Amino acid sequence: MSNGGGGYDEAAFVDLCKRELELCGVGIGQTVAVLRSGDVREHYARAFVCAGRLLGATVVEMNLPPASDNSDARAILAGAAQPLSGNRLAVEALKCADVIIDLMFILYTHEVHELQEAGARILSCIEPVDALARLFPTEEMRAKVEKAAELLAGARKLQVTSKAGTDVTYQLGAYPVVMQYGYTDTPGRWDHWPSGGFLYTSGSDDGVDGTIVLDVGDIVFPLNSYVRSPVEFTIRSGRVTRVSGGLDADLVNDYMTGFEDPRAYAISHIGWGLEKRARWSSVAMLKDGIGMEARCFYGSVLWSTGPNLEVGGTNDTPCHLDMPMRGCSLFLDGAPVVVDGEVVAPE
Ligand code: FE2
Repeated sequence: MSNGGGGYDEAAFVDLCKRELELCGVGIGQTVAVLRSGDVREHYARAFVCAGRLLGATVVEMNLPPASDNSDARAILAGAAQPLSGNRLAVEALKCADVIIDLMFILYTHEVHELQEAGARILSCIEPVDALARLFPTEEMRAKVEKAAELLAGARKLQVTSKAGTDVTYQLGAYPVVMQYGYTDTPGRWDHWPSGGFLYTSGSDDGVDGTIVLDVGDIVFPLNSYVRSPVEFTIRSGRVTRVSGGLDADLVNDYMTGFEDPRAYAISHIGWGLEKRARWSSVAMLKDGIGMEARCFYGSVLWSTGPNLEVGGTNDTPCHLDMPMRGCSLFLDGAPVVVDGEVVAPE
């Protein structure tokens, strides 16, 4: 199956979507809303509609007028206006669905929480088709993520260290743990296909302190780039107070200051990846989507700055950096979970 270009196999994609919907518990008597905007991922919508009908579900396709350039996932993550934001007609209709297939990426909207509270199972899907197939979710990975989430939810202190000089501590307990394993059969739960296996939480608002050093090869989203020289972040009471280094630090500083928003410097989520099929190198070939593959690769530690709506916080700044790091160690209440990029916690 290719990516939607000349060799795109629509039948195979329908079958893949059908298997995904089966994991999401879709069948006879269920309602599925397929949400998209303009002509973006039109072929994804077609495949999901076919797949839902093959499973006997009642399917509705909702196409919202574009609010901005939502064809660019970086624009979405940088906080471009969302077609769903403020559209009451769409939100009220979507609340009636058992499952919402989100082909726009509505995670960073206030509306997504309203839909979750209404009980909808929300599955975002914006990555290239080859990544959907290669990182197809498994029940085994779900079990691993749920086990890891128990560890994380029970911890009060998370520490990350690295040979590059990272030593940072997050005080936990203020926010819930979010799991991603690529499908959702639980009412009110969001997930993203594909996610491999990935989980995170956030430190309390003023409870993150220390230093994080991005080493050569670590990734900065949404710049979609590998760091070529170390970047040092000084963090005090849950805020980045200084970013220093060479060209890569200049790029990060320039990106962040462009938002003219002090909330951009808040520390957001922290977690780790469990997916051995995901490639660290995938950003170099990124064609579409948000680069989920490089956010969940095995043994990575991903930290972020900016908004915390994902964990139920109130910071909705559009400036969001996700930074997966290799070779780090992560400890929960002093017990090792990841050591030098290897997951050591029992699965
Ligand atoms: Fe993030």
